Amino acid sequence: MAAVQLVLQAQDVHTYYGHSHVLQGVSLQILEGQIVALLGRNGVGKTTFVRSVIGFTPPLRGRISLFGRDVTRLSPERRARLGLGLIPQGRRVFRSLTVEENIEVAARGEGGTSLQDLMEIFPNLNERLRVRAGKLSGGEQQMVAIARGLRTTPRLLLMDEPSEGLAPLLVQKLTELIRQIRADGVSILLVEQNLPLALEVADFVYIMERGRVVYQGLPEQLARDLQAQSAFLGI
Ligand SMILES: Nc1ncnc2c1ncn2[C@@H]1O[C@H](COP(=O)(O)OP(=O)(O)O)[C@@H](O)[C@H]1O
Ligand SMILES: [Mg+2]
Repeated sequence: MAAVQLVLQAQDVHTYYGHSHVLQGVSLQILEGQIVALLGRNGVGKTTFVRSVIGFTPPLRGRISLFGRDVTRLSPERRARLGLGLIPQGRRVFRSLTVEENIEVAARGEGGTSLQDLMEIFPNLNERLRVRAGKLSGGEQQMVAIARGLRTTPRLLLMDEPSEGLAPLLVQKLTELIRQIRADGVSILLVEQNLPLALEVADFVYIMERGRVVYQGLPEQLARDLQAQSAFLGI
């Protein structure tokens, strides 16, 4: 067995919405313990890639392996049970459920980060456990979504633009949180539009454009590559 395990291996993934050929041969891999950032402008296919890994929109061609096992034909539920966690884009909370109910709805059987431990990570949610999530601020709702994603202690956590719409102070907190999650042994796919955040935490970076990977490298390399930043991220 190899010393370093691949937690995610996507090979030549082609994903469609109807006749629309959105992902046109995406290959990407994550090693155990890594934070891998997936960057790119709006509409290039980042969320579609996340949905392909989860199995909501399975690829028509190509292969997806999780933890060394081919899951291309597995249902989202089976993939989740292997240890895949998702923090979806757009702070999807159930507005009419309380904070606690939102988090507990994700609990599956044994294991997972306990509610008590989560409240140490998110002390400001602790006083709000019985409040309906719809009453919280946008930033607090995002924290609920993140807490829910951690409730199952995934081996691989997919975070789809977690910093979207967060105030700078909360982005700083998110940065620390991402590092903390990794220190607990979780590998992370971090989909982002926030380049400084991605460069700060990622071990490796991919950029997509129109359904393809157009750049991959170390964050230090991308930080120096102003041409790539301008061409692919519009910075
Ligand atoms: N449910 C859907 N049905 C049809 N087309 C979609 C759907 N979701 C996204 N798309 C299209 O797929 C492309 C990629 O979208 P998406 O993966 O959401 O990009 P990103 O996450 O990078 O912003 C876009 O052109 C978008 O309009
Ligand atoms: Mg998206």
